[in-house]
Amino acid sequence: MKANQLRRTYIDFFRRHNHAEIGSASLIPENDPTVLFTTAGMHPLVPFLLGAKHPAGTRLVNCQKCVRTGDIDEVGDTTHLTFFEMLGNWSLGDYFKDEAIAMSYEFLTRELGIPVQKLWVSCFAGDQDAPRDDEAAGMWKKHGIPENRIVFLGKAQNWWGPAGQTGPCGPDTEMFVEFDQPACGPDCGVACNCGKFVEIWNDVFMQYNKQADGSFAPLAQRNVDTGMGLERVTAILQGKRSCFETELFAGLLGKLGEIAKTDAPGATRSGRIVVEHLRTAAFLMGDGVVPGNVDQAYVLRRLIRRAIREGRKLGVTQAFTADLADVAVAEYGTAYPALAQNRDQIRNLLQQEEEQFASALERGTREFNKLVDSFPAHVERKVISGRKAFYLYETYGFPLELTAEMAGERGFTVDTASYHDAYKKHQELSRAGAEQKFKGGLADASEKTAKLHTATHLLQAALRKVLGDHVGQAGSNITADRLRFDFTHGAPVSKEEQAKVEALVNDAISRDQVVTCQEMALDEARAAGAIALFSERYGERVKVFKIGDVSMEICGGPHAERTGTLGKFRIAKEESSSRGVRRIKAVLE
Ligand code: ALA
Repeated sequence: MKANQLRRTYIDFFRRHNHAEIGSASLIPENDPTVLFTTAGMHPLVPFLLGAKHPAGTRLVNCQKCVRTGDIDEVGDTTHLTFFEMLGNWSLGDYFKDEAIAMSYEFLTRELGIPVQKLWVSCFAGDQDAPRDDEAAGMWKKHGIPENRIVFLGKAQNWWGPAGQTGPCGPDTEMFVEFDQPACGPDCGVACNCGKFVEIWNDVFMQYNKQADGSFAPLAQRNVDTGMGLERVTAILQGKRSCFETELFAGLLGKLGEIAKTDAPGATRSGRIVVEHLRTAAFLMGDGVVPGNVDQAYVLRRLIRRAIREGRKLGVTQAFTADLADVAVAEYGTAYPALAQNRDQIRNLLQQEEEQFASALERGTREFNKLVDSFPAHVERKVISGRKAFYLYETYGFPLELTAEMAGERGFTVDTASYHDAYKKHQELSRAGAEQKFKGGLADASEKTAKLHTATHLLQAALRKVLGDHVGQAGSNITADRLRFDFTHGAPVSKEEQAKVEALVNDAISRDQVVTCQEMALDEARAAGAIALFSERYGERVKVFKIGDVSMEICGGPHAERTGTLGKFRIAKEESSSRGVRRIKAVLE
């Protein structure tokens, strides 16, 4: 089934079930300053999930354009995207679990023809905020999903929302397709990311409203919010492992192949980054974003500049971004008229941005290489100072993340904290806010991120115990769902070592250690043995977070109050980040 047909089939199915079709909202949220982009179909519907009356009724369906930037570093593999289309249906205080699950089951098995033997589902395991969802599990069973393919998972997997810091959210039930390949190990299951199981749809039972204090209050009405990623499901239905192999990217990749004079740009990381980022860029400009230095404008600039640099890696020396955006406009302009209406503006903006950046890229790259080559070989901590990174930004327009990426390719890291200091000194317009929002895709200072932050400290302490004291932090990024920790270590962390690290962290959690924060002089902190990053990042007085007998680190917080609230720590992925630097992604379940 092609993507266009999937879109139509989905909307027609729910229309037959008395849903009104609504249009896609803008990628720029109208009334929510806490997020940069519309990240899900429910986002524009928040007021109605909270109880306002929607003019189209209580049953809605649509295909919503979405942008999520939390995984931007992963784009270039075969699955991650910054822009995607989300098919969704909603009940605003109308039907609830029973009917939602019945329709999901019917759609997957009858309309899409997915054999029931290939389906798995997960339901919420329950915790202090909401009970275990035996109700949903019972309904799946009634439809014929055998008990051994119904699994219960915690909040990290089976809870969705809110989209910003507060708002509607609730337990969900997720549907997975099992692929015909061996399990990666005894623990392989729907939560595993080895590729054997791929999530196809998510039904959220939104009956809670997360408050600013982190608590969950019951909503006035019980809603259903569902989301199905169009690109991913198109690939699944075509038996492909990657959406880059579907017709959705065929036009863009074909054009890039012509420009770069190469046969299969989709087979390369650079090719995938170019087409993916420029598709997103076209959509953002279609919704009125202009490249710049703050918030959405900065994200757009970063996407375009990264695409240009990756284009150079494919051997493209001429201006090319406007021609690729044209393909996106031609392919999506009918479904999303804002693109077609702004075609000229999109072309002009890209041409300007590319002209500005292209020559600077060359000069800046030379400067960057000189800088890296001038490091004596025996220096162990290969760190580019914040001042130098800021110089590359100011003089050559290198977004910090671009410098960090180039640094990573040469086995270096960038002292981002001192970069921000330098930036603040030079610019009145602080971009720090946007940076924060950008990192997670959401401005999320919630309890969940605080817990992940504390878990990151426990992880570092455990890594140093298991692997040795050479382990140092090379980068850290936390989204609402997971932590990512880059650290210096010369070899892959074996499964046994990972198990030891997990056990140490979980031991610290089960011993319910108290997290305390103390302000002291930097020298005093160092003398006490607190782990620090790089000397120039700190002021004279620093905050030191101590986690019981486990860890002491200089850090800005925020943190959980006790480790006992963290849940179960699990390493989801271990991989290389750059030469001499490993990356661990982990979740709290
Ligand atoms: N809002 C839910 C999601 O994005 C459906 O998965």
